[in-house]
Amino acid sequence: MHFLQKKKYCIWLKMVKKMNKLKNLFDIEIKKYKDKFLKYVKLDKWRNKYHLMPPIGWINDPNGLCQLNGKYHIFYQYSPLDAKNGLKFWGHYTTRDFINYNDEDIFLYPDQSFDKSGVYSGSAIIKNKEIYIFYTGNVKEEGEFDYINFGRQHNTIMVKYDGYKNISLKKVILKNEDYTSNLSLHVRDPQILRKDDIYYMVLGARTKENKGVALIYKSFDLDKWVFMKEINSEYFGYMWECPNIVFIENKMVMIFSPQGLKKEKYKFQNIYQSGYIILEDNFLENDSNKIDVSRFVELDVGFDFYAPQVFIDEKGRIILIAWLGLPDEEKYINPTIENYWQHQLSLPRELYLKNNKIYQKPLEEFKNLRNDFIEIRDIKLCNENIEFDIIQNYSFEMSIDINSDEFIFTFRDIDLIYKNKEFIIKIGKSGYGRDKRYVKIDIIDNLNIFSDNSSVEIFINYGEKVLSTRIYNEDIINKIKLCGKGNFNIKKWNLKNIQINNV
Ligand code: FRU
Repeated sequence: MHFLQKKKYCIWLKMVKKMNKLKNLFDIEIKKYKDKFLKYVKLDKWRNKYHLMPPIGWINDPNGLCQLNGKYHIFYQYSPLDAKNGLKFWGHYTTRDFINYNDEDIFLYPDQSFDKSGVYSGSAIIKNKEIYIFYTGNVKEEGEFDYINFGRQHNTIMVKYDGYKNISLKKVILKNEDYTSNLSLHVRDPQILRKDDIYYMVLGARTKENKGVALIYKSFDLDKWVFMKEINSEYFGYMWECPNIVFIENKMVMIFSPQGLKKEKYKFQNIYQSGYIILEDNFLENDSNKIDVSRFVELDVGFDFYAPQVFIDEKGRIILIAWLGLPDEEKYINPTIENYWQHQLSLPRELYLKNNKIYQKPLEEFKNLRNDFIEIRDIKLCNENIEFDIIQNYSFEMSIDINSDEFIFTFRDIDLIYKNKEFIIKIGKSGYGRDKRYVKIDIIDNLNIFSDNSSVEIFINYGEKVLSTRIYNEDIINKIKLCGKGNFNIKKWNLKNIQINNV
């Protein structure tokens, strides 16, 4: 073997050995943790029936969403050793039908010097029947640092995966020195898209002047990347996380999660936001850098929603999955941490455009969970109350057709109030600090409610607006209540469990 080849081989061998050693050590710790605490997770009454949760510990962003040979891959930010947020790994679920899942082995470990403080968020793209994963390797140096401009590395890393068991070694593609010099050390969450045989990478970033921006890189082979431009705007928060650019019916849409926006009555009511802007058609290649943030629309106006990621499946559907949680939110809590787990993902939602706005609907597949159908037709109200005893458990779907401009609908400690074209969701003590959220909306003609043991997702007008929340009821409240004026029809199904197998 030539000297240089030998040197390369030795470095490779060292990396593999180190990786395997660390993996084994992590696996031992995770097994010990599971042996001790999994029984508490399993007994928790707030474990959901058809939403994805961490097997134990903590979940945040969905990552690497893709479909290859019929199989969907749902990776996620995972702290298997700490339900209160700890060192990040990539967990991995697979499914072919969104009903039957495999809980696969942990996919990425923080096992290298360039990702030792956490394998952070990233995305996937399929090329020649292989999955190319791009993610951020987080490194925090030891010492007294601000970790914004000093003491941190955010490396962009690539691994290849055949969709079964074979994963390549990690390859660092970009380091902090490679990003533009106006940026702080916060540059992360790569997303890759393909357009006309060109690949583009979008990264979220914070400048040294504390402005949120996004970066675009370009590549022809997914290996060599050239910087193209920075996307910026009037001040719109100090950091943009998890940017995604996607084409919906030929419109280029940028979805991202800005941090640091000021609360308004009908806008930005959570600590951080997630929403989208429709970009100019040739934005990727033209000279413009600025986006008009006055056109930013939030994707979910409930209490718990962040870091959505989109991908296109083999049927061509544009599917969004988000984290039904928020970082750094101190106003509300999740009591499940006492039982060694926290947070969940949203239902996968299909995106489509109507009147230049994104609409979201739960995937068709969820109709296969429906069971025990009941319908209450032609409810006519003229300011009186009416109650129905129809809830046996909290895993159900309800669809309410509405012809009314004033009503209150109450279920499981939640009031949905509509009056003067204002919609309010109000949660009692089961919200654990989640109180009220306000939405301006001219007409409501349907509410489609997906209720699970500790979460609710409400789709108004077939996905024109969506509100998601966690909720922790102590008991089952059997009654639903309706009051106000107008006509209503209620359809309800109990929903069956999804099946998750350990592989
Ligand atoms: C968003 C985020 C990402 C980061 C990841 C770390 O929730 O902060 O920006 O990559 O979570 O878990």
